[in-house]
Amino acid sequence: MAAAADAQSRPFAQALKEAQSRITAHMEARLGGNDPLHAAMRYAITGGKMLRGFLVLESARLHGVDDDAALEAALAIECIHAYSLVHDDLPCMDDDDLRRGQPTVHKKWDEAMAVLAGDSLQTFAFELLADPKIGPHALVLIRGLAQSSGKDGMVSGQMLDIAAETATTPLDLDQITRLQNRKTGCLISWSATAGAVMADADEAPLRRYADALGLAFQIADDILDVEGDAAKVGKAVRKDADAGKATFVSLLGLDAAKDRARTLMEQACDALSPYGSAAETLKEAARFVISRDS
Ligand code: IPE
Ligand code: IPE
Ligand code: MG
Ligand code: MG
Ligand code: MG
Repeated sequence: MAAAADAQSRPFAQALKEAQSRITAHMEARLGGNDPLHAAMRYAITGGKMLRGFLVLESARLHGVDDDAALEAALAIECIHAYSLVHDDLPCMDDDDLRRGQPTVHKKWDEAMAVLAGDSLQTFAFELLADPKIGPHALVLIRGLAQSSGKDGMVSGQMLDIAAETATTPLDLDQITRLQNRKTGCLISWSATAGAVMADADEAPLRRYADALGLAFQIADDILDVEGDAAKVGKAVRKDADAGKATFVSLLGLDAAKDRARTLMEQACDALSPYGSAAETLKEAARFVISRDS
């Protein structure tokens, strides 16, 4: 699979910053209403790393996909991700008061608003993907995002995560891998393959990249819960063990979890070899994922 003829890589930090400002500007353009529901939705999208949106834009760039079309898909995945976090933070789920250094939506407003903002972020994502700009592969993206988000994807992973808190026997490695693939991996996979889908190109290398990246990403999140600085991470830390969360860290310990994250990062980078140097930005993203402090 060759990259688009003019696809060149650039520093990851620059590419991520650009993705953040483009997605934020697009959010303001598409979701600018004064309605409190719109305000809560904007609040929920704002302030994150926007790594999933970046993956959409970068995989699109790699395949020469139109920037404006890719931006709709990038905002769509950030809406789904934001919805997943708003609901994840609710008292009936992880019960968190802080997200990205700010009060969670149910603390800033109330629980009803958090449920409803999450609901409307989800439907808004599909509205964005149905934009005519997306082109002939819209249905593939829509079906893929529904599958990655729902009953066999992120929501299913969240259900397994909550169920594991009260399981009588600890989850084994296969079960934790399945849980984390669903909870975190599916949305990352959709993001990283979106550019190939829009270009009607072979998705396989990006899927292999994303499968490894998604697991590495969640392991890094679980390590940050143990070792992270709450002020930098922007959310409460040292909660997972007490909550009985099933993670690579709970099963393998910190050192083995770090080794596994590093191996997965290397696998992610290797998967990109068909793209040559054009995929350097995505390789840097994989290195960032396991070394980040937030
Ligand atoms: C946090 O995701 C939730 C997980 C799936 C681990 P991020 O670390 O991408 O959160 P933001 O969007 O940058 O705040
Ligand atoms: C959240 O995982 C995953 C989703 C929202 C799908 P976590 O519960 O570990 O995420 P944080 O640590 O609250 O960001
Ligand atoms: Mg959770
Ligand atoms: Mg949580
Ligand atoms: Mg976590």
